[in-house]
Order: sequence, then structure tokens, then C-alpha cells
Amino acid sequence: MKKTFTLKSFKSKPLNGLINVPSDKSISIRSLIISSVCIGNTKIFNLLESDDVINTLKVLRGLNIKIKKKNSYYEVSGQGGFFSDPKNSLNFGNSGTSVRLMTGLLSTSEVNATLTGDKSLSSRPMKRIIDPLSKMNISISDHDGLLPIRISHDNKKHIPIKYTLNIGSAQVKSSILLAALNVKGTSKIIEKIPSRDHTEIMLEYLGAQIKKQKNIISLTSPNFLKPKDLVIPGDFSSAAFIIIAVLLSKKSKVKIKDVGLNFFRTGLLDVLKKMNAKIAIKNKRKFNGESVGDIEIESSNLNSTIVKKNIVPRLIDEYPILFVAASFASGTSKFYGLKELKIKESNRLKSMAKALSEGGVKLQLGDDFIEICGKHSQQGGNLVNTESDHRVAMSMLVFGLFSKRPIVIDDMKMIKTSFPGFKELFVNLGAKIEYVQKF
Ligand code: S3P
Repeated sequence: MKKTFTLKSFKSKPLNGLINVPSDKSISIRSLIISSVCIGNTKIFNLLESDDVINTLKVLRGLNIKIKKKNSYYEVSGQGGFFSDPKNSLNFGNSGTSVRLMTGLLSTSEVNATLTGDKSLSSRPMKRIIDPLSKMNISISDHDGLLPIRISHDNKKHIPIKYTLNIGSAQVKSSILLAALNVKGTSKIIEKIPSRDHTEIMLEYLGAQIKKQKNIISLTSPNFLKPKDLVIPGDFSSAAFIIIAVLLSKKSKVKIKDVGLNFFRTGLLDVLKKMNAKIAIKNKRKFNGESVGDIEIESSNLNSTIVKKNIVPRLIDEYPILFVAASFASGTSKFYGLKELKIKESNRLKSMAKALSEGGVKLQLGDDFIEICGKHSQQGGNLVNTESDHRVAMSMLVFGLFSKRPIVIDDMKMIKTSFPGFKELFVNLGAKIEYVQKF
């Protein structure tokens, strides 16, 4: 029988070094999708080669977009919005971002396609995109609000929409914007709760007629997007695991270069600063309209915190690792308004609460909130059921660097949906994380 391995993390020595983290997943996915609708060839430097991004690339190839891997970049031959009908259904694997963005784009393109995904993606809500897209007079259907989604090409005239988005979701916003690229006229999105604006930034950079006034985003089509080189910054959400690990370690100092610092992604920095974290941002600049900088982190004694609902979209992906920080901070931390956390790659509120309490952390879990009693020393020693969720897996491995007893995760393969090289990067900084044989 073939041996399979997983990861185990142990109490570690100080972490020190100068590193880069893998490139941004959200921006990598957008760079492939948006360059496919440019007219001509786009070079993408530092594309993240993770499962979610490679699945997006394969989907685009299935729609007859030519994408070549060169020495230092990927080259996408954009066809101005023309795709061929794929021979097979389009499989997005684990990627919610990719399937939701591509559904928008394909729904108003002249194409017939079926969109599917893995078990976790097949249980995630799609009504949130189907509802607004349906208002554009398109032919689209879902399966009781879930995948598979079917898109049919018909001769109906698609119409621009004015849509009030009540949830803070960049995936829904981007899905509508990409659909609107093919619909003559001006579409407007009124964003009640602002979310990451990578799509708006990239569309503007490539020449789309897009503007934002207060909380109203308007896109006027047709658009003729011109290729420009795109450089993908480091992923702040991946940097978050290093940031918290360094803050919790003794005598540690790490600098992470070229990290994306989009305002709507960096709520964690605001929260950590209030918790007494020693973090400095240096060398601020822009890559294709996106803010980028270097992050310097030093060991800190973290205090507890209260995180309210209004900041949720700015740190949505960082809650699992923030819960780990709160577990080792002094005092009780409280996190509110976490409804959206329940419909990620797993129900992260539940999976993290279970993993932490099995590791000895005292906590109280509510329907959309959690209170965590922090202490400098936590027990650990548990086998984590990650629910196939990459961020739960990585967060709990970081927990194991500080708990008295080591942490083992039930499976490690999903880590590469966002953070290939996670173990190696941590080990190079001084952490003790080892491969162990699966039980
Ligand atoms: C993403 C948006 C967020 C985030 C996800 C990536 C994106 O999801 O959780 O990991 O790239 O647009 P929602 O838009 O559903 O909040």
C-alpha cells in the first residue's frame, strides 16, 4: 500500500529571516480571467502556481484561450471576449472565486458551458450570483442554489443592471462586473458593505470605462481592454500566517517583501496593532494599480481584542489565524458578525472552534460570534479535522508551534490551493514542522 503523509508542528525556536510569500491568489485568478478578454497578449509575472489558479488556467484553455508558460511569465492570448464551447464540463476544483467570476463572464458571452467543482465547492451557495445575473436577461440555471451551473447561449438581448449588493462579497461584485463587460450600456452596483476591489483596479488599469463614486460602481460597455504587463504581489492572506507566527514567537524578527496591501485586505494589520503588535510597513509602492510594500514583524506580547462586524470583509480570510493569535493573547477576545465565515471552504467558525477547543482553548461559540480566552500556554496535542480547508490546516499548524504538545492535521494536500511551499517556508525561518505518516 502507498504511504501517504501529512504534517505535524512542534513548539519552535525563534523565527528569523527575509522572505517572499507566494503570490496573491485573488489577483492571480483575476489576471488570467481578465487578460483572456483583452485584445492581444498579456504577460503575467509571478503568477501563483497553486491548485486554484491552475484550475482557472485549465478552464480558460478548455474555452480555447491560449496560455503559454515562458521562463519568467505566463502569456495569455486574449480574444476580446470570444470563447469556444468547451468539450467537457468546466471543473473549478476548490475555487469559489474562480467559479463565481467565470460564471459572470461566461453568462453574457456567446458560449454553452457547465460549471462544476469538488465536494466542498459543490456545497457552497451560488444563488448569490445567479440572482443578480438573472436580472441581465441571460439563460442560466443552478442545481437548487448549488453547482453545477449551466449557461446557454441564446439570442436574447442582455440588459445592464442596477444592483444593490447587501452582502460584503467581492466575488459577487466581480461576477456582476465581468458579466457587465459584455452588456451594452451602463451597469451599476451599489455596494452596501465594501469589499476587496482587485477587479475594479485591474479593469481600470487595462482601460475599462469603470468609475467609483462613493459606494456606487459604474461600468459602461462595450469595452476594449488593452493588454499590459501584470505583476502579481505577494498574498497578504498567506503573509498573515507568518505575521502571527512571528508575533507569538520569542526573539523573532522577519521581513516579508513585496506583499499586496490593498486596503480591503489588510484589516488584520489594524486589529493586530490594537493588540500591541510590532509591525512596520516599509517601501510602499504600486504594482499595476495595487498597493504593495514590505512588512517587518517582531515578537510581541499580544493583548486581547474586540473585533466588530464593520471590519469583517477586510479580514474575512484571516479569521482562522487571528483566532490562533487570540488563543495566546492575554485576556478574552470577542469577534462578532461572522455569518460569512460559515460558508467558506468549510464552516470556519465551527471547524476552528472545534480544533481550538480540542487543543485546550476555552471558548464560547455563538451563531455568528466567538469569544476566545487567551493564555500564554495552551495544551495542543490534538489531531485536527481540517474539513479539507486550507486555512484551517495552516492556522492549526501555526497553533502547534506554540502549544505544549504538537499538532497533527488530518490531511495536508489542500494547503496547495493557496500556499504551495508552506512547510518549507516555515522550516527555513526556524519552525519545526515535519512530514508524518498518515494514521
Ligand atoms: C475573494 C473574496 C472573498 C474571500 C475569498 C476570495 C475574492 O470571498 O473570502 O477567499 O478573490 O474575490 P467573498 O467575496 O465570498 O467574501
